Amino acid sequence: MEKLVHLDQTNTNSYSSITKNGSQGQPRAGILGGGQLGRMLLQAAANYPVETFVMENDPDCPSAHLCHHFTKGDITNFNDVYNFGKGLDLLTIEIESVNEDALEKLQQEGVKIYPHPSALRIIKDKILQKQFYKDSEIPTSDFIITQNKEELLQQEHFLPAVHKLGKGGYDGKGVQIIETKADFEKGFNGPAVLEKMVAIKKEIAVMIAINDKGDIAIYPAVDMVFDQKLNLLDYQLSPAELSEKTMWKVEAVAMKVVNGLKSPGIFAVELFVDLNDQVFVNETAPRVHNSGHHTIEANYSSQFDMLWRVMLGYPLGCTEHILPAAIVNLVGAEGFSGPAVYEGLDEIMKLENVFVHIYGKKQTKPGRKMGHVTILSKEKQELIHQATRIKNNLIVKSHS
Ligand SMILES: Nc1ncnc2c1ncn2[C@@H]1O[C@H](COP(=O)(O)OP(=O)(O)OP(=O)(O)O)[C@@H](O)[C@H]1O
Ligand SMILES: [Mg+2]
Repeated sequence: MEKLVHLDQTNTNSYSSITKNGSQGQPRAGILGGGQLGRMLLQAAANYPVETFVMENDPDCPSAHLCHHFTKGDITNFNDVYNFGKGLDLLTIEIESVNEDALEKLQQEGVKIYPHPSALRIIKDKILQKQFYKDSEIPTSDFIITQNKEELLQQEHFLPAVHKLGKGGYDGKGVQIIETKADFEKGFNGPAVLEKMVAIKKEIAVMIAINDKGDIAIYPAVDMVFDQKLNLLDYQLSPAELSEKTMWKVEAVAMKVVNGLKSPGIFAVELFVDLNDQVFVNETAPRVHNSGHHTIEANYSSQFDMLWRVMLGYPLGCTEHILPAAIVNLVGAEGFSGPAVYEGLDEIMKLENVFVHIYGKKQTKPGRKMGHVTILSKEKQELIHQATRIKNNLIVKSHS
């Protein structure tokens, strides 16, 4: 493998080393998973000298037609991930459920992995993740580990609480609220964490990037508002309305998380602010994230642009916001399954400062994330007004 050393023009002491491997002398970068996160990452990659590779089972997935090379394969399978990654210079993920043993082997063989498999291992298992916060003295709600239903049934004294499956949950499917003894039946019969219920005032998220040299860039926190029924993000406002003191706490906690994980990459740290303005980490995602989508239009360097800067060894971008923003997720409407139709799109496209992102998923089904819309405005009231209007008028349906 030939090495290409880039000299940073602005700082002669700073080098970034990029392995030259690709057909046009460009670094070869792989993405495991081909959903909307990969798609938006590829949109940002188009600005950089990089050759892109995607692996995913569905050859018609949102990322398949935006990358240079698509490989059909199972991201949870050791051989598929290893074979996909072994010719690449660097590799990232757009979903946590990847085979981390293969990533570890690839890392040992010199492929740069963002995030490091060691960090991914901690995050993938909610038990290890909570234990990591505790060991690192990062504030998080108290918890008990339960191995099975029987152990859960003995924890009545710990209620109200939230039961979370250690591995395999996604989009709220591995999370159950256990308020009283009667709710125990909803609990999981496998390794899980039982967390004390936090009296939540606000749910916020912070995107934070860290490169190989340890430089950190942190985005302004965002307010997340959830759809209780689907347990999916409903809409989100950026920047979050927080007192200066809380903002400091939030940033300090997010920094502690990424420093503790000891891995370059981009991370979404989800936090709760409770009624006493205490800050708790809920969970961390070691990748680009739904709560950072507004940064495409609302911030100088988007989360996707930032991850390329990290992975390609360029200086980190500017995280400041240009204008406040709101995001509305477009999810498949109840009662419709089949080829997607976007009702109301024309009306929404007439609005100023509204940016529509359709993920290119051919089939809709109830609750499926099909796209998002970003709204920019200096006025918070205007953001909320437009977000509500979009939620009510842009509906993902199907003819059949
Ligand atoms: N300890 C807690 N106290 C109060 N509410 C909680 C607690 N933990 C989770 N919740 C609520 O449940 C929601 C979902 O929990 P969490 O973020 O852990 O899982 P998820 O993001 O749905 O799952 P996954 O990461 O697997 O997709 C949170 O956004 C929050 O509203
Ligand atoms: Mg979450």
